Amino acid sequence: MKILKLKNLKYSYGNCEVLSDISYNFFPGELVGILGANGCGKSTLLKVIMGFLEKEKGEIFLDNLEAERLSRKEFAKRISFIAQKSNQNLNFTVLEVLKLGRVPHMKNSFKGLNLEDDKIVDGVVKKLNLQNYLNRDIKSLSGGEFQRVLLGRAFIQHSEVILLDEPTSALDINYSLEFLELLKEEIRIKKMIGIIVIHDINLASLFCDKILFIKDGKIATSGKPKEVIKKEWLEKIYNFTPKILNLENDIYVLPKRGEK
Ligand SMILES: Nc1ncnc2c1ncn2[C@@H]1O[C@H](COP(=O)(O)OP(=O)(O)OP(=O)(O)O)[C@@H](O)[C@H]1O
Ligand SMILES: [Mg+2]
Repeated sequence: MKILKLKNLKYSYGNCEVLSDISYNFFPGELVGILGANGCGKSTLLKVIMGFLEKEKGEIFLDNLEAERLSRKEFAKRISFIAQKSNQNLNFTVLEVLKLGRVPHMKNSFKGLNLEDDKIVDGVVKKLNLQNYLNRDIKSLSGGEFQRVLLGRAFIQHSEVILLDEPTSALDINYSLEFLELLKEEIRIKKMIGIIVIHDINLASLFCDKILFIKDGKIATSGKPKEVIKKEWLEKIYNFTPKILNLENDIYVLPKRGEK
């Protein structure tokens, strides 16, 4: 079984330590939510996994291969990434952005995409209902539409791991639910490893198989949503007193008025 394994990861910006001793195993078919207060190190962790930031200590293994030994192309075949802030101000059409997802798989970059690539792009376009957007400039899309295109590009990349940094933070509740349902289904069907940074505790409890709470660059606790989305942990992580309603199988977290 393919596992993404983080072992004792450490990272500092200058002499300011932001991640210390992060160890965790991610399994296929699971979506893991990374939660924690602003500035606790969530985006830094994803950037270290992506190799955008060079880890100070520790190891990252994918399927028993050390990630840093993979070429950029091999790495891109295995791991896709949707950043917290993606540049929408580029002169590309939706179709061009989607096709970029096949670049790591291209055997001959002069020949462009082959029939098999086109079939993969077509399948994802239908799945995400993007047929009517293909010739639109990405600049002209709404925030929600743009996020759906980025998800499409990641699906087209056919990677084993998908990392997402707050992909739903600018989306309304319908777009958020649709986005997370599509993501969850793809992860389940393709047995991908999914890692999502998300602030909404209710959405995390609905969609994530596991939750990893980060505080001050360390894993404070991890487990299934029902095991860790608890008053005592939320108090420790966010320093606020929640009111948790357990309605049937769902968990709703509300701030308790007048208390902090
Ligand atoms: N390039 C940088 N140089 C110096 N410090 C940085 C840099 N990028 C981030 N930091 C600091 O590192 C800490 C962690 O930042 P990070 O972006 O990982 O937080 P986060 O958990 O993703 O927060 P948010 O929920 O606000 O997105 C913060 O204190 C931030 O100010
Ligand atoms: Mg962040």
